[in-house]
Amino acid sequence: MANDAIITLDQIDVEFKEKTRSVHAVDHVDLTVERGDIYGIVGYSGAGKSTLVRVINLLQRPTAGTVTVLGQDMLALDARQLRAKRKRIGMIFQHFNLMNSRTIAENVAFPLKGHTPAAKIKAKVDELLELVGLADRASAYPAELSGGQKQRVGIARALASDPEILISDEATSALDPKTTSAILDLLKSLNERLGLTIVLITHEMEAVKQICNKVAVMDEGRIIERGSLLNIFAKPEQQLTKDFIDTTLQLDAALAAVRKQPAVQALKAPDQLVRLTYVGASTDQPLVATLYKEFSVTANILFGDIQILQGTPFGNLIVVLSGTQADLDRTFAYLKANDVTVQALNEQEEA
Ligand SMILES: Nc1ncnc2c1ncn2[C@@H]1O[C@H](COP(=O)(O)OP(=O)(O)O)[C@@H](O)[C@H]1O
Ligand SMILES: [Mg+2]
Repeated sequence: MANDAIITLDQIDVEFKEKTRSVHAVDHVDLTVERGDIYGIVGYSGAGKSTLVRVINLLQRPTAGTVTVLGQDMLALDARQLRAKRKRIGMIFQHFNLMNSRTIAENVAFPLKGHTPAAKIKAKVDELLELVGLADRASAYPAELSGGQKQRVGIARALASDPEILISDEATSALDPKTTSAILDLLKSLNERLGLTIVLITHEMEAVKQICNKVAVMDEGRIIERGSLLNIFAKPEQQLTKDFIDTTLQLDAALAAVRKQPAVQALKAPDQLVRLTYVGASTDQPLVATLYKEFSVTANILFGDIQILQGTPFGNLIVVLSGTQADLDRTFAYLKANDVTVQALNEQEEA
């Protein structure tokens, strides 16, 4: 177990037994989330993401495995202890789940009702609405708010009991891209200002890319790949992970355009159309100049995209490399040694 583990799932299994069939929704999953992480769990619909995160607060009891949250074996708690523990774990959802007949302030206050003095509730609600940028909408009703504002209310409500962990289950999936980005920025700032640990469930790698420091890819109940955001983007191993990353790059459209260019149409062996992917230090090197100077290989850049992930450049180039076969071989060895991933894009090699 990692030193600062705040959530540890060990060999979690969830099986739904129905009359005619049984669904293995979560299949032997181990997961460690450390304090301060924004841990993305990405996967297509039905992968088991929601079921997995519901195990963290035992909204879903696992068929097998152990759940340790904030140092506590969750399965050892009685009902009263579990209720107390759940207050340490906030949750937000795609459909906000607000009460339409109550004001924004009343929605946020709801989790505090019954055990907190009214004046204290008022102060807390004011503070939370300020935190999520809705101080001026306290007396509005949910129907009067935009989707992004409703999710801000959802976040404020989830934070009412000062949780250390926030689980976000597709919280931005019903929002447009600009609003999504603003909500993700809010989550990131809460992570930084409050030290909030976030588990972010999504089917969009774009969301993971924007704020997560770690990511796990889920498929058919299993985590098929995981790691730091930079490592996963630099060296994805599973095809599904590669597909998720590529959706954030719009590489397919770029490649289609590149293939129409004369330089590519007239391509002759041993020249090669390749994609170069690199993270961090590699980007700072004058790569193209080096290939020419050291190996007499020219790199004709047909498409380039550099983004900043976790403050580190993440580059993707589509280039035609030209030179003798021997020089190209030495070039590929050099690129590999310098942590640049080379993917051949020659038409005949595409399935
Ligand atoms: N309460 C349930 N009863 C039966 N099957 C369920 C239940 N909840 C989820 N499932 C099934 O478990 C699988 C994983 O679902 P879910 O965790 O919701 O995936 P995701 O959140 O990744 O879309 C799906 O096949 C789903 O139909
Ligand atoms: Mg889900």
